[in-house]
Amino acid sequence: MKSITDLEVGGRVVLLRADLNVPLDGTVITDDGRIRASVPTITALAARGARVLVCAHLGRPAGSNFAARAAGGPSLRPVAGRLGELLGRPVPLADDVAGPAAARLAGSLGDGDVGLLENVRFEPAETSKDDATRAELAGRLAALATLYVGDGFGALHRKHASVYDVPGLLPHAAGELVEAEVAVLRKLTENPERPYVVVLGGAKPSDKLAVIASLLDKADRLIIGGGMAYTFLAAQGHEVGRSLLENDQIGNVKDVLARAERRRVEIVLPIDLVGATRFAADAEHDVYPADAFPADRESLDMGPRTRELFAAKLADAKTVFWNGPVGVFEFPAFAAGTRAVAQAISELPGLTVVGGGDSAAAVRQLNFPDSAFGHISTGGGASLEYLEGKTLPGLAALEADR
Ligand code: 3PG
Ligand code: MG
Repeated sequence: MKSITDLEVGGRVVLLRADLNVPLDGTVITDDGRIRASVPTITALAARGARVLVCAHLGRPAGSNFAARAAGGPSLRPVAGRLGELLGRPVPLADDVAGPAAARLAGSLGDGDVGLLENVRFEPAETSKDDATRAELAGRLAALATLYVGDGFGALHRKHASVYDVPGLLPHAAGELVEAEVAVLRKLTENPERPYVVVLGGAKPSDKLAVIASLLDKADRLIIGGGMAYTFLAAQGHEVGRSLLENDQIGNVKDVLARAERRRVEIVLPIDLVGATRFAADAEHDVYPADAFPADRESLDMGPRTRELFAAKLADAKTVFWNGPVGVFEFPAFAAGTRAVAQAISELPGLTVVGGGDSAAAVRQLNFPDSAFGHISTGGGASLEYLEGKTLPGLAALEADR
């Protein structure tokens, strides 16, 4: 895979695919981590005289055509503003993706300038399953530039036009963020120092059972908390009340538990839960043992004994990968479990990796400095699919010669 230093970028328009998919509250950016993570490559290219044309997606716009999607949003305008602040100069935004405004923006860039194209998902073709449909958009995007740099790590698992097809049309390289992320994931997959402990949280086992199955061959211990844990507890025959439950996954979870036992991989589940009367920041709540949870409550966090258990099961780890909060950390009353996991991991000297937008947002919201962890990945889905051993389409495209 080529690096940006392998490209002659001076005076050329470089189409830079970044992942600027940040959480928004209306038009306010609530965590700018992905924008900050994209700055080094942009700065490095601009410093060498490239004309940097940034392409990115935001959210999942709805509508059958460009006009409907552009009207409904979300627009990248707040992102252009924040990127400009971080770069210390305004970043003009084209109001289309690969149309006349994009062409005008590309033509207006001087050496070292940075511009941003509007949300690439305003073009329905971006995410099309049809190769020819994507190819048409890819052709229009490629026509804007001479070179392509892929730096949107968080979207590399998507077979999308700007991620997968454009690098096939232009000489290309991987950006510094992609290189850094892949280097860390390689360490986790190739020869992790042991014990290697994985903490998985987040809502749905269905999203993560495949990665759990493949981690049973690699990790020594799996700690499962948060929304996912209730389906595991249910699979063991426990009442979980009104907690999140994927009934149709209980059979698969049982298979995973049996396989873990055969492989002697320890699976650690919560032993007590914080049961609330409803899903709300100010809901009444009490602590219950995981094997005596009331039918009319909903678990929103891990209990105090579980926090101690999880911390103890992390204490000897030499390598840790953590994906997914273990409670509803957005509500301060239910953030203790996620805080305990973050705290335990932050005290470890080994390689610690926090993966995914939600977990990254959680540790920042709980006021842990980024430096408390070895690496905070900008990609949840992308890092999980990498660990699962899947080929990431965007990475394969960057690795292919051109
Ligand atoms: C992400 O947020 O996980 C990436 O930006 C990819 O976005 P997507 O899940 O909407 O494809
Ligand atoms: Mg995602």
